[in-house]
Amino acid sequence: MIKLNDLTRQNKALKSEFAEVLFSAIDGGAFILRDYVTTLESNVQSYLKAHGEVIGINSGTDGLLLSLYGAGLKPGDEVIVPSRTYIASVAAIIHLKLIPRFIDIADDLNLDSELLEREVCESTKAIMPVHLSGHACDMSSISRIAQKYGLKIIEDAAPAFGCMYGGQHVGTHGDFGVFSLHPLKVFGVLGDGGLLVAKSLDANSLRLFRDHGHPQPKSEENFRTFGVNSRLDNIQAGFACVKLRLIDEWIARRRSIAEFYSRALIDSSVGSQMLKHLENMKEKSIFFDTFSSFVLCIDSPENFSSFMIDDQVSKVRVSIETARDFPRPINSHPNLQKELSDSAPKYLEKTEYFARRAVKVPIYPELEDSEVEDIAEKMKAYFGQSD
Ligand SMILES: Cc1ncc(COP(=O)(O)O)c(C=O)c1O
Repeated sequence: MIKLNDLTRQNKALKSEFAEVLFSAIDGGAFILRDYVTTLESNVQSYLKAHGEVIGINSGTDGLLLSLYGAGLKPGDEVIVPSRTYIASVAAIIHLKLIPRFIDIADDLNLDSELLEREVCESTKAIMPVHLSGHACDMSSISRIAQKYGLKIIEDAAPAFGCMYGGQHVGTHGDFGVFSLHPLKVFGVLGDGGLLVAKSLDANSLRLFRDHGHPQPKSEENFRTFGVNSRLDNIQAGFACVKLRLIDEWIARRRSIAEFYSRALIDSSVGSQMLKHLENMKEKSIFFDTFSSFVLCIDSPENFSSFMIDDQVSKVRVSIETARDFPRPINSHPNLQKELSDSAPKYLEKTEYFARRAVKVPIYPELEDSEVEDIAEKMKAYFGQSD
């Protein structure tokens, strides 16, 4: 079977380099923050060409919490956020007693920037664009509205490391940018981890906050503030340093697989959607996608998934794992209603439309060419017979 994700392949190839990192940390007794973290922070800052500083933290979720805290938002302030996102984006807002103001998405499955201005009200203090699936949000419109109304921008770029808008990396457009280093991300480590991009002034206080108010070098009695433990492990940072060297190669491979799938499907009814993907992939395009997921919108995703997993239904005798992509929008999720304000919309038209249709297929750099061909061929067979 071709699995939707396969973490063993990439990590197997890097085992000896990981071992070097591990042994060097053991020999140096250096496990939390320390030199791999500092190196990673500075290497990522150069990679992203970020004006702000990069801070190693323990997860993307904490990066969002720290950003909202750093933005100085007060309980009751509203943050505009799409509800087609991972729960962490909204959880960070809720935990700080802020109010998520859910906005519908556009056809590219990200926040619809044309709806933004009408969502801004007196309590709105920030926008949280989410660059889902490694596709950038329309950052020029978002920045224009933010500037006009004095709103902070907290970019949830958790799944979008390496993705760009207008030639500039996502995560570096707003006041704060957050990346997840979860193992399944395009740039993931061997456990939890995250990176936060913040302007220098905020970065100083966030570095303190990340480590219970300790300044560096550390002194037990010298707390500067009440903070949290959101430190990045030195070993994970070392693994990330190994992987950063290969990230461009992996992104290029993801983009070429996406292009191969898109070309295979160009004659099908999902062709127009695919054309958009191809447009996005042109070198000089505004959008530089990294395809953390390859998402199709299909009227009957269950039929598609059954077809793909069944190795007897087409001449491609291979079982291919697929999965629904964000099938339950946060705003209408039944289990979350109690914690959302009554004014939260229960129905967002496009968000619901795509939640019923979005399905993802395997896309990772370690797929063999023959597997990519099988996946493309089997999708083509499905669209040749239905949808
Ligand atoms: C859009 C989005 N935001 C935030 C997160 C949270 O990141 P982490 O798992 O590192 O806490 C994720 C992780 O999947 C995500 O996809």
